[in-house]
Amino acid sequence: MKKPLIIGNWKSNKTPLEAEQWLNTFKNLGDWPGPEVVICVPFPALTICQTIIAELNLAFKLGVQNVSPFDSGAYTGEVSARMLAGLAQYCLIGHSERRKYFAESDETVKLKVKQAQSANIRPIVCIQDESTPVPDNVDLIAYEPIWAIGSGKPDTPKHASQMAENIRKKYPGSLFIYGGSVTATNITSFISQANIDGVLLGGASLEAKSFYELVRNAATIQT
Ligand code: PGA
Repeated sequence: MKKPLIIGNWKSNKTPLEAEQWLNTFKNLGDWPGPEVVICVPFPALTICQTIIAELNLAFKLGVQNVSPFDSGAYTGEVSARMLAGLAQYCLIGHSERRKYFAESDETVKLKVKQAQSANIRPIVCIQDESTPVPDNVDLIAYEPIWAIGSGKPDTPKHASQMAENIRKKYPGSLFIYGGSVTATNITSFISQANIDGVLLGGASLEAKSFYELVRNAATIQT
C-alpha cells in the first residue's frame, strides 16, 4: 500500500479561530483516513493548531509557508527558523507566489533552506519547471507549474510523472510531489503514478469536509 504525502497550503487564509474550527470539523468527520498529511498554516495559527492537534489526537504534521533567510536578529518583521523550531516540522520554500509578490530569488531560497534545516524543519522546495534550481540536501521537491495553480487546470498526470522522472535524475533520492489544481476528484490520478509521492494543494485544503474526503480518496491508492 502506497502512503502518499498530502500537503495542504492554507496560504493567507484563516484566523486562529477559523483554524481551530477547521480542525474540530475534520476530527468530527470520522477516523483518521490513513495518509501522511501536512498542513501549512499561517504563523498566527501555528500554536493553536499544535495544541488542538495534540488535544484531538489528530495525525497532522504542521508546516509553515515561509521562513526568514536570516538568523534571529535585527530583521524587522521576519520570523526566524529558531522561532519555529519545535512548532513546525515542514516549511514551504520558493512557492511561485513568494517569487512573484515578494521577489524571492533562487539565492533567497537557498538561504531559507539553510535556515530551516538548521532548526530541524524539513524544506519543501517548490519548483516551477525543470530549470528551477533545488538547493543541496533538499529531499522534498514540489513541482508546481505556475499556470496550474488556482486555475482549475491541472497538469496531466502523465506529464507530471514525466517531470518527476526528469527531476529525479537531477536530484536522486528526493521525494517528488505534484501541485496545481489538485482536488478530491483528481488526486488519485496523480498519486497512482509510481513516480509521484504526493501532492501539494491550496484551494482544496480550505474546507475541512472536502479536504477529509480528499484524504480519504488518497487512502484508496494501491501500488
Ligand atoms: P491550488 O494551489 O491547489 O489552489 O492550485 C496549489 C499551491 O499553490 O500550492
